[in-house]
Amino acid sequence: MNFSAANHRILLSDGNSIPIIGLGTFGEPKLTTAGSCAASVKTAIDTGYRHIDGAYIYLNEHEVGEAIREKISEGKVRREDIFYCGKLWATNLDPEMVRPTLERTLKILQLDYVDLYLIEMPMALKPGEEIHPRDENGKWLYHKSNLCATWEALEACKDAGLVKSLGVSNFNRRQLELILNKPGLKYKPVNNQVECHPYFTQPKLLKFCQQHDIVITAYSPLGTARNPEWVNVSSPPLLEDALLNSLGKKYNKTAAQIALRFNIQRGVVVIPKSFNPGRIKENFQVFDFCLTEEEMKDVEALNKNVRYVNLLMWSDHPEYPFHDEY
Ligand code: A2P
Repeated sequence: MNFSAANHRILLSDGNSIPIIGLGTFGEPKLTTAGSCAASVKTAIDTGYRHIDGAYIYLNEHEVGEAIREKISEGKVRREDIFYCGKLWATNLDPEMVRPTLERTLKILQLDYVDLYLIEMPMALKPGEEIHPRDENGKWLYHKSNLCATWEALEACKDAGLVKSLGVSNFNRRQLELILNKPGLKYKPVNNQVECHPYFTQPKLLKFCQQHDIVITAYSPLGTARNPEWVNVSSPPLLEDALLNSLGKKYNKTAAQIALRFNIQRGVVVIPKSFNPGRIKENFQVFDFCLTEEEMKDVEALNKNVRYVNLLMWSDHPEYPFHDEY
């Protein structure tokens, strides 16, 4: 695959295409100042990024929309040059909630459509306005999902022109098969967004997805911001890895750039989050070098099955995806 800064889209099975690198926009709310998401999206677009990954529950989708619209009105890009991925949160999985939820996102973004809309995770939570529903004792309030019915409601949104491509996130093989084998399936999921990086290379899920023309997007491709509230910080920090750093020396790159290049080179989309202008630019400088076949194998061999984002607070949910091997 010959990607360049100007041309780095890969085909999706529905005929659309996705830029292989995007800007992640989840910032820890306590550590993020208002406006920094919008500024980062603008820096990213100026740098050459054409793919922005967001979600309603990041609570900054209005900033993403504002930045995209500003760059369009400046004439820097056209709407069709930009790929925005949004996500349907777990409290909105009931079929009748799907379209109003997507319409709310479009209203927040002030855009006519999103390019990709994902079921953010297979575990349904109690429907309602509360995005983190818990009872008075702090216990999470679960909900019974019917992922196939949710999917049919998403298919109707695509038919209505509100979204170009449909996908899922945090789905394991069984949950993907549930959708793929749904009687009367109209649109296959084109994307599964999951954690993926050199310490968690996802060989089995990647192979399964490739066999079904499902592109994998790697979230936390740099190993997360290591927030102990939701990240398994007993695992070693990815960017301190000796091999990633020594390859970085060889190519005059950073460990982060090596980690991103590894996934890009094997056809995995990466969405590194950064709200720092220097690092936003650094993460995009991954098209001017190439790892050798042997180096790709060496990085693959770093796999330690380290899942930083294990969502353990929901591990007793009937649809918890990570009990299965993959
Ligand atoms: P910041 O926003 O200050 O740049 P991931 O995408 O794996 O979740 O990683 C995101 C975390 O990695 C954020 O804390 C982000 O911080 C940091 N980060 C992003 N790019 C780089 C980089 N090139 N080098 C080191 N840290 C980075």
